[in-house]
Amino acid sequence: MDKIVIEGGHRLEGKVRINGAKNAALPIMAACLLLHGPSRIKGIPNIVDIQTQIKILKNLGGEIRHIEDGSLEIIFRDGEHKEKITAPYDLVRKMRASVCVLGPLLSKRGNAKVSYPGGCVIGQRPIDLHLKGLQALGAKIETDEGYVIASAGTLKGTRISLKGQYGTTVLGTCNVMTAAVLAEGTTIIEDAACEPEVQDLAYFLNKAGAKISGIGGSILTIEGVKELHGVDYEIIPDRIEAGTFMIAGAITKGEITLENVRNDHLVATIEKLREIGVEVTANGNTAVVKSNNTYRPANITTMPYPGLPTDMQAQFMALLCTISGKSVIAEKIFPDRFIHSAELRRMGADIRVDVPYATINGSPFLSGTHVMVSDLRAGAGLVLAGLVAKGTTHIHRIYHLDRGYEQIEKRLSQLGAHITRVSE
Ligand code: EPZ
Repeated sequence: MDKIVIEGGHRLEGKVRINGAKNAALPIMAACLLLHGPSRIKGIPNIVDIQTQIKILKNLGGEIRHIEDGSLEIIFRDGEHKEKITAPYDLVRKMRASVCVLGPLLSKRGNAKVSYPGGCVIGQRPIDLHLKGLQALGAKIETDEGYVIASAGTLKGTRISLKGQYGTTVLGTCNVMTAAVLAEGTTIIEDAACEPEVQDLAYFLNKAGAKISGIGGSILTIEGVKELHGVDYEIIPDRIEAGTFMIAGAITKGEITLENVRNDHLVATIEKLREIGVEVTANGNTAVVKSNNTYRPANITTMPYPGLPTDMQAQFMALLCTISGKSVIAEKIFPDRFIHSAELRRMGADIRVDVPYATINGSPFLSGTHVMVSDLRAGAGLVLAGLVAKGTTHIHRIYHLDRGYEQIEKRLSQLGAHITRVSE
């Protein structure tokens, strides 16, 4: 197993290019199951979650090959591999997002057998809303030995609300949308997630011949079509990776230019950074982050898009730990998503968690020690803290980080961080 070792206290400076969005790429790759013929998809990050998704799709009969750096060709053909309907536990347990093959399989092959993803360290993560939406379209759903067994004759358009206790559902909206595009008649999804990654899936499907309107809003109207064809498509830049690098610049009081960003997807993150005192200049598809200012503490509430993303919460927590004064974080999507706070405390942070709130008494004196990554974004938060901690930080279990950040240590080191990957 590898670990990351960081010697803190080095200001970051320079340019970094942001990759395509993991959370857009994963459902778009799954949606290729619906298409007849080859699709060429650009902007696919080279990360472990994508490798897992490739395995799942190959298992389902997909022909997948890398055609150039960051591009994949994915081929499914109508009528082939009808009998391949299983996403096995061994792969789904590695990556919850693999559940997004459920909608396409049901729609295209009439049957799906997908392992229940189960909970994870960021919370319970049920899929009841996914199943409710698919049932409303006419699917029969059963559970057998830890698998969702779904079957359908003809899926039929209907009106569905995807509102749950914590708002709507991102992957649930993807599953219902992908099941509805080839259904008979019109489907209206109310309380749909409008995250940029869900929008990207809808734009991809429309390019392939689907008829989805209302993209970016909370009501999606999907007129069923008879078939979809392969397309060339480029995935949107990753707003969470961009936000993470923005905080890397901010926390080290550096100056970083981010290239290949969609600033319109980063409004909540940029506004919060400015409130804290970070200078962010957004210009076209670049953003420059710098600061000579003293930062102010801030209160943060994570919300569905366009609110501040829960996937940026750990990174903001790291930043707020270094700012003198009291900050409060309210986690409204995954109320238990605070495991990183215990590790940050080991670095000297003063954080009190009273779910769904974390109260931080910040001070500029974090110190390096051994810390453990519990999930992808927790890992990002710990790396950011390590960049400014006094002394050396050893970050263990970085396989979580490799699931979502491509060569994070290399890219931070090119910006001037003293960071290395070491085999343990
Ligand atoms: C997506 O997960 C992302 N994953 C997550 O990013 C992200 O944190 C999350 O959306 C919220 O933005 C991918 O896109 C691959 P949800 P998803 O269904 O779709 C509850 C990362 O680090 N809920 O929108 O699984 C749920 O418990 C990952 O990249 C139900 O109650 O999240 C949560 O409280 C981590 N029933 C809320 O809704 C359901 O059927 C939002 O979850 C589904 C969800």
